[in-house]
Amino acid sequence: MRYDSITEAIGNTPLVRIAPDVHGLRHIDLYAKLEMLNPFGSLKDRAAWNMARPGLHDAQRSGATVVELSSGNTAKALALIAGMHGLPFKSVTNRMRIPEIKDLLLLLGAEIEELPGQSECLDPTDTDDPLTLFHQRLSRPGGAHLHTDQYFNDLNTEAHATGTGPEIIADLDGRAPDWLIACVGTAGSSTGTARTLREHDPSRPVSVVGLVGEKSDFIPGIRTIDEVQEVGIFDPGTYDAIESVSADEAIDGMLTLLRRCGMLAGPTGGAAYHGAVRHLTAVDAELAERRARGAAAERGTAVFIVCDRVESYLGYLRQRRPELLGRPPAKNSAASVTEAEIRGASVVEVAEAQKWIAEQRPLVVDLRGPFAYAALHIEGSVNIVDELFEELVRGGLPFGRRQPVLLACPVGEKSARYAALLTRMGHPDVRSLAGGIIAWRDAGAPLVRD
Ligand SMILES: Cc1ncc(COP(=O)(O)O)c(C=O)c1O
Repeated sequence: MRYDSITEAIGNTPLVRIAPDVHGLRHIDLYAKLEMLNPFGSLKDRAAWNMARPGLHDAQRSGATVVELSSGNTAKALALIAGMHGLPFKSVTNRMRIPEIKDLLLLLGAEIEELPGQSECLDPTDTDDPLTLFHQRLSRPGGAHLHTDQYFNDLNTEAHATGTGPEIIADLDGRAPDWLIACVGTAGSSTGTARTLREHDPSRPVSVVGLVGEKSDFIPGIRTIDEVQEVGIFDPGTYDAIESVSADEAIDGMLTLLRRCGMLAGPTGGAAYHGAVRHLTAVDAELAERRARGAAAERGTAVFIVCDRVESYLGYLRQRRPELLGRPPAKNSAASVTEAEIRGASVVEVAEAQKWIAEQRPLVVDLRGPFAYAALHIEGSVNIVDELFEELVRGGLPFGRRQPVLLACPVGEKSARYAALLTRMGHPDVRSLAGGIIAWRDAGAPLVRD
């Protein structure tokens, strides 16, 4: 294989069968599409190259900066592509939560602008989100930008419709699989691949399962179930089912791929494997039953997508599952809090919280990122960003038991989880602000800025 440019090595990734004794399905063949073997390391190489390529010549002439709203793989691929073409690259994102990727982007020469929003995915309906406002600004004509616009750009989807999909069909000897299981971020990969697989032979249905992270859980690179709104190229109609996977399940799936399949998959590859086996186990049982009754039941074929590699996520794993890296297990972690504990946590509405602050002077801890805090916060509150708070709590109760504490986060979910955790650890008076800073703001309660 000889190429003139590294971009020619994008695509044609292997489709590798998972051994049946690993997944346990008896009537379905399960294959992994190893997108992490793209040259820049992920499935995003296809989208980044397809989106950037048409504008590169003009950008070189006008000296434009390549810009994308991405905190991960798209930014990585675009930084490399921009560098190859002598162009600067700027990544604009809500808080970068994976330090290895941030460091890598800086190493690649990218400029990073972090904004104070919260979600992993752009939500254009949230006109308060600085990321949305930035996106609107970029979309105006006349800027010195090559904005690849991954959430809205059909070339993102097309990269998979013309690459990933046909490759799968070719590797399955000209047949589409019966199931496609894929994680959903921008939705470009699942939408484009699904389109080609379905169009290949309309008489044979292809069932598409989209996977997202569980509510307020964090799997880097994909949406949570809370973010399943119709945005840009994401259309819920693409999916026969949208199912959620917890971060722990994603990590367990990843461990199977790492330890039993020889695949250096990252957390979303693990999520896709876990989601695939969970979804297909029920179908496999049905196929077994049909066969037992003597009815015809063809063997099924399923494909899941392994998006990227594990190495960038060691810090994420150290935080969530330290025992995997030879460290003592995290006793006091937010992830260990049960739904029942969260329901039992003390939660205060805005008016009640205002009264409590005036009368008892609890310590108000704002768990949001520093930019959001700087923009607007409750007077007298202290800012301990949630990742740091998690570290503090791991070492034991961070406040004296006689100090009442009010925890606040964007919408009241994280703070309720931490209130439950501190209660479990023996703090007698810790409360969570119901609805978070957004409810506080919406109630017209006073906020100050730095
Ligand atoms: C690690 C990882 N997995 C999965 C995805 C989902 O891909 P898509 O944006 O095509 O939905 C992404 C997207 O950025 C990602 O970074």
